[in-house]
Amino acid sequence: MPGSGLILGIESSCDETAAAVVARGARTVSSVVASQIATHARYGGVVPELASREHLRAIVPVVHAALVQAHATLADLDAIAVTAGPGLAGALLVGITYAKALAFANALPLIAVNHLEGHIHAVLLNQRECEGAPDSSPDLLPASEDASLALVVSGGHTHLYLARPIHGVWSYSLIGRTVDDAAGEAFDKVAKLLGLGYPGGPWIDALAAFGNPHAVPFAFAQIKSKAHLAGKLPRTKAAKTAPIAPLDPHFLFSFSGIKTAVLRYVELHGMRAEARARLDRILSLQCPPRTRGEALALCPQPTLDLIASFQYAVIGDLLRKTFAAAERLGARHILVTGGVAANHELRRRFTQEAAARSLRVSFPTLALSTDNAAMIAAAAWPRFLNREFAPPQLSADPALTLA
Ligand code: KG4
Ligand code: ZN
Repeated sequence: MPGSGLILGIESSCDETAAAVVARGARTVSSVVASQIATHARYGGVVPELASREHLRAIVPVVHAALVQAHATLADLDAIAVTAGPGLAGALLVGITYAKALAFANALPLIAVNHLEGHIHAVLLNQRECEGAPDSSPDLLPASEDASLALVVSGGHTHLYLARPIHGVWSYSLIGRTVDDAAGEAFDKVAKLLGLGYPGGPWIDALAAFGNPHAVPFAFAQIKSKAHLAGKLPRTKAAKTAPIAPLDPHFLFSFSGIKTAVLRYVELHGMRAEARARLDRILSLQCPPRTRGEALALCPQPTLDLIASFQYAVIGDLLRKTFAAAERLGARHILVTGGVAANHELRRRFTQEAAARSLRVSFPTLALSTDNAAMIAAAAWPRFLNREFAPPQLSADPALTLA
């Protein structure tokens, strides 16, 4: 049973190599993230082979840095936790293989964590840190952790789960999901189309602030009842996982249509050449514009309006379906997590809507919204207490499901 309460988390499912030390799932002692953005930026998306190579380069120094920052050695740990999926097979394998070797060599238990569960625990970790949950206590969870509706919205996922702690063990029911692209994928693809930087989310987030969100009225059609989808798997690039059919169509998302609508708009309004010219300039910029002057130097007003309208529509769709699901399920607390949860306008609108409905909404800090290993170590804590350890033959599961 718990000694130090320290768990080393390792995450390498996509394009960040991350390691963190977290105490009792409640306090981040260290968190190190090595981003591969510079490697993938010139391709406008993650190149799986390059991601594996970069993970191989980074994994040893990143884990070392996390331990040094925590003033800990491997001997101080209670366990090692690693992301087992979903994600890129080659990328996952780097983290898993290293975690297995470290665990074996130091006689530590190994805990396999689902990446999506990690994103949910990023919010719970923040919450425990804010509430000052005593990390000296072996108690699993503060009493306030009731059932919550969790929207995991990232580059690979747009999933709604009902998350419940039952006697300290978290269980998850899938309520809704995207049938094609993830919301973050739509941000990235639209940004690429408009000649903006990679990943696209932060660029769209920054530029949308200077555009009119009502200039282009993008609409989302209600996804119809899915008799024809019975037994079909979603068409997402990542996580070709649970069948869509048993889910209520009111809680299904689809983001491939809006991407095509933006493409049509760009072609119809002769914005193609402007986007191509912008891409060359973007590669020399360090970060997205911060002022209206900088934004206008990069994009004419109609492009800023298009960006703001796209973002407004995507967030509106996420918001409507999430709050409808909360109402249906009687959930009083909504968690929004994953890379897209870093979006400022999303946070503002979800916060406003929750206040209007007297519901509670929580987000992770910006650093914990995107991929990190603190969330993996935090999600592992209840499993550690339940002695749910990974078998020695643990391998990567690129399509691992949560529920
Ligand atoms: O959670 P994450 O780091 O990795 C995955 O598990 O996919 O999410 C990355 C995604 C990318 O699609 C990125 O464009 C998006 O999160 N993202 C954002 C913002 N920051 C990151 N999307 C909208 N607004 C942001 N500020
Ligand atoms: Zn993620």
